[in-house]
Formats: sequence, C-alpha cells, structure tokens
Amino acid sequence: MIRRCLSLLLPSLLFSAAGAQAQEVSVHGDLAPAMKYSLYCGGCHGLDGRGDIHADVPPLPPNVGAFLEDAEGRRYLTQVGGVMSTGLDAADTAIVLNYVLHTFGKDSTPADARDYDAAEVAALRKQRVQDPVALRRRIVARLQARGIAVPEYPWP
Ligand code: HEC
Repeated sequence: MIRRCLSLLLPSLLFSAAGAQAQEVSVHGDLAPAMKYSLYCGGCHGLDGRGDIHADVPPLPPNVGAFLEDAEGRRYLTQVGGVMSTGLDAADTAIVLNYVLHTFGKDSTPADARDYDAAEVAALRKQRVQDPVALRRRIVARLQARGIAVPEYPWP
C-alpha cells in the first residue's frame, strides 16, 4: 500500500524538484489540521504516522518531537524531503507540523516548545538546507549524546 502510494507520488515529487518555480498550494483555511495531514502527509506516513521503515518512510510517533530539543531541529523539520515536496505554503506547513508534534510527537516534544507559525516557517526556509540527511545526522549525534531518543530512520 505504501509502495503504491510512493509510486503514485514519486512523479509529482520529481516534477516539483525539477521545477524551481513550483507553485505552492494553499489549502482552504477551514480544513481541519488532521484532514490536511491526511491529504498531504498520510499517503506516505499513514494516518497513524507510523510510516513503513521497510519502504523508507520513518515512523513519526513517538519521537518526532525530539528534533525540537536541538537548536537546528526546528529548521530541519520545515525542510525534510516530504514536507518540502508537498508544496504546501508556509501557513499550511506550520499547521501540519504543529499537528504532527501535538499528536504523534506529544510525548517527545519539549514542554516549552512553541508552535510554528507561517512567519517562522517562511523565515526558516530562507535559510535553505542543502542536505537534510546530513543535517539530520548532525542533529541526531547531538541528541544521542544527550541521551535523547530519536525516530528510527531508513538511512545511516
Ligand atoms: C512522498 C511520500 C511522503 C510524503 C507525501 C511526506 N513524507 Fe515525510 N518523509 C518521507 C520519507 C521517505 C522520509 C525520510 C526521508 C527524508 O527525510 O526525506 C520522510 C521524512 C519525514 C520527517 C523526518 C523524520 C525523521 O526522523 O527525520 C518528517 C518530520 C516528515 N517526513 C513529516 C512529513 C509531513 C508533515 C508531511 C506532510 C506535509 C510529509 N512528511 C509528507 C515521505 C513522505
């Protein structure tokens, strides 16, 4: 099922990667956050956020909130592959990230973490991450040195 979703979604991923001026999607504001997540993220990550590590989709619960323990983690979450390639605008990206952190990451998100908003997502995306996997490696090394559990991930 995940594999089928990936094969359906991959062409659009490649298309948006190829088109530097790819149009951003703005979803109607009244769609509930859970609905936005299921439309734009759930196809790969599943409605329960567990993904499928064997199909290279990492699980979001329970440790996705750990990224907010690191100074570079907020920027990382705005620029991971799937989050960028859905083409959501900054406001909707903030909404789905907050949804992910409040649900799947509720036990790992630091208690004092503030929600994302559109202005922060837009500002963080101006500090472009060239290699999100390398950035993740650096963040994970720092978190693990502090004994903080991170999500399972398909790549070293
Ligand atoms: C086309 C399938 C696909 C879609 C759609 C997708 N993702 Fe992902 N996501 C992945 C894959 C594959 C990875 C692991 C590779 C990577 O980091 O790019 C990932 C990684 C992530 C990570 C990082 C997890 C970690 O441990 O580093 C987060 C957070 C995330 N996705 C959230 C989202 C959100 C929120 C959405 C919706 C806006 C979304 N994804 C849409 C496939 C997808």
